[in-house]
Amino acid sequence: PVLVIDFGAQYAQLIARRVREAQVYSEVVPHTAPVAELLERDPAAIVLSGGPSSVYADGAPAVDPALFEAGVPVFGICYGFQAMAQALGGVVERTGTREYGRTDLAPDGGVLHDALPGRHPVWMSHGDAVTKAPEGFAVTATSQGAPVAAFEDTERRFAGVQYHPEVGHSPHGQEVLRRFLHDIAGIRPQWTTASIVEEQVARIAEQIGDGKAICGLSGGVDSAVAAALVQRAIGDRLTCVFVDHGLLRSGERAQVERDYVSATGVNLVTVDARERFMDALAGVTDPEQKRKIIGREFIRVFEQAELDLQAAAGGEKFRFLVQGTLYPDVVESGGGAGTANIKSHHNVGGLPEDLEFELVEPLRALFKDEVRRVGTELGLPETIVQRQPFPGPGLGIRIIGEVTAERLDILRSADAIAREELTAAGLDRDIWQCPVVLLADVRSVGVQGDGRTYGHPVVLRPVSSEDAMTADWTRLPYDVLERISTRITNEVAEVNRVVLDVTSKPPGTIEWE
Ligand code: XMP
Repeated sequence: PVLVIDFGAQYAQLIARRVREAQVYSEVVPHTAPVAELLERDPAAIVLSGGPSSVYADGAPAVDPALFEAGVPVFGICYGFQAMAQALGGVVERTGTREYGRTDLAPDGGVLHDALPGRHPVWMSHGDAVTKAPEGFAVTATSQGAPVAAFEDTERRFAGVQYHPEVGHSPHGQEVLRRFLHDIAGIRPQWTTASIVEEQVARIAEQIGDGKAICGLSGGVDSAVAAALVQRAIGDRLTCVFVDHGLLRSGERAQVERDYVSATGVNLVTVDARERFMDALAGVTDPEQKRKIIGREFIRVFEQAELDLQAAAGGEKFRFLVQGTLYPDVVESGGGAGTANIKSHHNVGGLPEDLEFELVEPLRALFKDEVRRVGTELGLPETIVQRQPFPGPGLGIRIIGEVTAERLDILRSADAIAREELTAAGLDRDIWQCPVVLLADVRSVGVQGDGRTYGHPVVLRPVSSEDAMTADWTRLPYDVLERISTRITNEVAEVNRVVLDVTSKPPGTIEWE
């Protein structure tokens, strides 16, 4: 792999993604990992990420010079560039000129910037600057505040840039990174969707052997792709369980039962637990309590389904549980290889720790966009592969007040209209998701036809986001909002107002609950 050493930059994961976009497999490692440990993994190259600190700050993470003696290609970015310069005998100084944001780069020869536009914008964020490149390096770009804005030593396969090539604001950054990987480091681009599928299928087949596996499908992309990979590896020794808790949106169950099965041919058991969930949620208005009840009931239903399947299979146990854990979850929980734990099963509401399964997590190395591409490669339908996030507790947390079957029907109808119109307007890729929320305990007076109404409002919550940690409300075109509003108030009898949520996150969350 290409190892991205994380110096505390918020960009390390993004760098790993960009390296993968250049079709080279990459992982993030903490800067505290000793060089010997890094070299044990036989890295094809090492990328030193940016970091918040100055190389002169107390406790600033340094680069062990041993890293440069192993014959491994190294690329330094921002802080990593300066740390590299310093470790190899160059000079890093406080120049007094800070550069933050868009900066003009003046390239001058070299491999990284060859034949790129003469002056082009890059994204900078630095106070210190490299004023003298280490011996053996050619200086191949400068900027106002950085006398050495890029350098390379193609002999030793070292290079670096002061700016951030990984961000979209550096329009040629991806090309520069690609040139380092392919042209300077000499790595062959082999990380393709087809190779990911092939490799994972082989691994899964090896892990499961002739055992049996079970997978909870949520309708979301992660569990669907994980299951499809496992199915490809072990065929009908995989059984998927889809729990219909009655809190799904219109058409979701059919999507899984019909589209998913016809695309994969997977064994699917649907458990209709609608009544059970409705009974358990009767009279409950507190959102946290709703979540707990939904999670608890889900586990019970799933466990029972597993017992039933086991009995039907003549008592043979399902030893393996398939989960759709993604790479960002693995990095965030500080885990490396083999730190599987059940708690990451957020898609299906958290299975208990005492379930005796061995985990199969074929997406542990992948980012979300890679998972979607794998899904497409496996022939999964667009409706599943491009699906926007939807919370495990479903519509249960989008009804403010008690959840009843009647209220769910109202919300499902309104939600279906909003989704239809957003899709028709071609906005699905622009918005992260658009929860529709029923304010079930609020009524207001309206007028429809000649009569007075006393109905409920629904809230539209369209948001744009990169990762759901922060979000902004999406400026939807007025004509789209108008169509949604007109249709909902005309077609859903109990709703007489449609309101728009214009709060960012923070302070608001995406869901209302
Ligand atoms: P909030 O409301 O916290 O939501 O801003 C952030 C993102 O997480 C989704 N979400 C969930 N996803 N299980 C899930 O799988 C859950 O219990 C859950 N609750 C919230 C939400 O839709 C948004 O994308």
